[in-house]
Amino acid sequence: MSIVYQPQDQTFRLQTQHTSYCMRVGRGGHLLHLYYGSRIGEGDLAALYPPADVGFSPSYYAGRFERVLSPDLLPQEYTGCNVGDFRLGCVSVTDGAGARGADFIYVSHRIVSGKYALAGLPASHDEDGEAETLTVRLQDPVTGLTLELLYAVFAQQDVITRAARLVNEGRGPLWLDKAASACLDLPFGCWDLIHFHGRHAMERQMERTPLADAIQTVSSTRGASSHHHNPFVILCDRETTEESGDCCGIMPVYSGSFRTDVEVTQTGLTRLVTGIHEEGFRWLLQPGETFTAPEVILAYTGRGLGALSRVFHGFVRRNVCRGPWRFARRPVLINNWEATYFDFDADKIVRIAEKAAGLGVEMLVLDDGWFGRRSDDNSSLGDWQVNTDKLPGGLDPLIARIHALGMKFGLWVEPEMVSEDSDLYRAHPDWALTLPGRRPAMGRNQLVLDLARPEVVDYITGWMTALLRDHAIDYIKWDMNRNMSDVYSRALPPERQGETTHRYMLGLYSLLERLTQSFPDVLFEGCAGGGGRFDAGMLCYFPQIWCSDDTDAIERLTIQHGTSFGYPVSAVGAHVSACPNHQTGRTTPLDTRAVVAMSGTFGYELDLNRLSDAECGAVRSQIARFKRWAGLIGGGAYFRLVPPQGGYFTAWQFAAPDGGETLLNLVVTHPQANPRPIHLRLRGLRPDASYRVDELVFAGCSGAAEARRESGAAALSGGVFSGSLLMNAGLTLPQLFGDYPAVQLHLTLADEAEGREERA
Ligand code: GLA
Repeated sequence: MSIVYQPQDQTFRLQTQHTSYCMRVGRGGHLLHLYYGSRIGEGDLAALYPPADVGFSPSYYAGRFERVLSPDLLPQEYTGCNVGDFRLGCVSVTDGAGARGADFIYVSHRIVSGKYALAGLPASHDEDGEAETLTVRLQDPVTGLTLELLYAVFAQQDVITRAARLVNEGRGPLWLDKAASACLDLPFGCWDLIHFHGRHAMERQMERTPLADAIQTVSSTRGASSHHHNPFVILCDRETTEESGDCCGIMPVYSGSFRTDVEVTQTGLTRLVTGIHEEGFRWLLQPGETFTAPEVILAYTGRGLGALSRVFHGFVRRNVCRGPWRFARRPVLINNWEATYFDFDADKIVRIAEKAAGLGVEMLVLDDGWFGRRSDDNSSLGDWQVNTDKLPGGLDPLIARIHALGMKFGLWVEPEMVSEDSDLYRAHPDWALTLPGRRPAMGRNQLVLDLARPEVVDYITGWMTALLRDHAIDYIKWDMNRNMSDVYSRALPPERQGETTHRYMLGLYSLLERLTQSFPDVLFEGCAGGGGRFDAGMLCYFPQIWCSDDTDAIERLTIQHGTSFGYPVSAVGAHVSACPNHQTGRTTPLDTRAVVAMSGTFGYELDLNRLSDAECGAVRSQIARFKRWAGLIGGGAYFRLVPPQGGYFTAWQFAAPDGGETLLNLVVTHPQANPRPIHLRLRGLRPDASYRVDELVFAGCSGAAEARRESGAAALSGGVFSGSLLMNAGLTLPQLFGDYPAVQLHLTLADEAEGREERA
């Protein structure tokens, strides 16, 4: 039993392997938070919160003479509104009289095995039947608004998920101007906030800031989780490092506008409230109607940021991603975008595919420009008929030629958008989000279709279903290339306009649910101008997301590093592209680009016909290496050894879950004249086992540096080291010079390597 209720003091205890989450029903019936942290034993947690009388923190009415119990001081599971808790609130509820208020009092609870589901919203799943669910039902006696707090405990994985449902069980309409998913109170401690900010082509830059006695906000009002602030955040103790210390990850399962506020309050309590962004949000809840706030995934560890990331990697891969692709190695792909942009025809695509197939690439992805009259990004979104000038005879002859090469075929689409210059917009101008009487702001000269309208969702479902049913398409890249402005739905009445952006998300999720259920074998890759919608909501439908439009290997190091805090490598779309790089103009060695792209789904985005024979040979061995190591990379434990923060080099490592093999990756980002030795201690190995260096790849070293490298490498190649030596004494690599050299070093258990040699 991972959820225990003690009736004598109305206490709930949620236990995972290494964590405990505790709460209780307080004297007045409020659900009070007691503790979330490393696993603890018995004892009265209420003793942590001795009664206190604090000026200007009002008492609950029933305790008005004692003056020691205040809604403004006690840790809460989910706040009411306008009833004496002046800290961050979870809801804003207004009734027909204009009275804004809600105070949720415990009614009942239920503990069941299995995981709750959320109607219309993506959520983590429990296919393996390991979860238990607690539902606590509370009610505001005045409005009749019922709050259901849902908690699912994944004990083995150290994960707890939360969600909230608001049901109008009263007699009149209610307006929700805010309806958060969860409140997390950390009553003691000194916390830092880690968040992942950025911009287009520079997503998820990790930033760690000490919490001030103030409110800090991470949010998006863009109608997408955004390039600018990822919804995943971490609170960690000021002393926490990669290897040790307390930290808590908070991952909303939502892809639209969101807001996470963190407040340090007068008692030192840190409160985090997360949910749909309230700007422009107003939801009319009629009697009998339910509003469901999106799920939040929580994990806590006392073992540092690396351990926290590994919990999220396992959980996202196993319990967020769905379908046959979640654990499978993804095909090595070639995408024509940076190779041709809009300038292609069938023969050109086939020439790219032929070359790629010969080198071991397994799938050709035809990117933007195959439909309507689209020869640049100004027109045709919405007109999803094949451009037969570019592809004579349509998609099928091209698909047949690609399949004849033994390759899979993938296709780019951007279904949520419409170009002003399109037949679809001319036929249905009211299907786009625009404000009455105003010219809309244009992003990439396109508009957002109003997915709050069921007929628009049906329309997209219709043509996407026909596309996937009528053509042998193995993969879809689902793009979304502008943010939402001019938000107004022509289909909603004035009093429901505040529902538009969330109804859009519900429309999108229902569309994705229908398509992914109907075509379970199709591999979907999400994209939003790169990683502008890289979140757990999308990962419920798409097991991988194009990480960034920046394909520069060196920039990708920081982008992929930030991404790695919450999301597994198997979700990170990453490609080798041409040099000079199209986004930064930088030139990096081909093998270095491959080292970086291999820490992702791996593919190429250039015309391989333009490479020399030697470079093609390198590509062939990169692909062979990736195929050999894909299980380790996708399913292994990920260790950030040296972060890409302006030093000489950055390094990261994969270790098999059983410690049976490991891959060390290293890129020199700032070459130095007289660098200190590169010394690294490995992680995740079996201390008593012996490991042999069975592959050592150096990329981008030349000249005199090459000779020095070779002598250093000789000391390593074929060397046998114990796990305890590698993890404690560590390894020293030869000095590396040149423009962005890289190293990959693979070790296997020595007796297995010997066994393999003998078998060969
Ligand atoms: C977005 C994507 C790119 C490419 C283009 C096509 O920017 O992120 O990878 O597909 O659209 O227009």
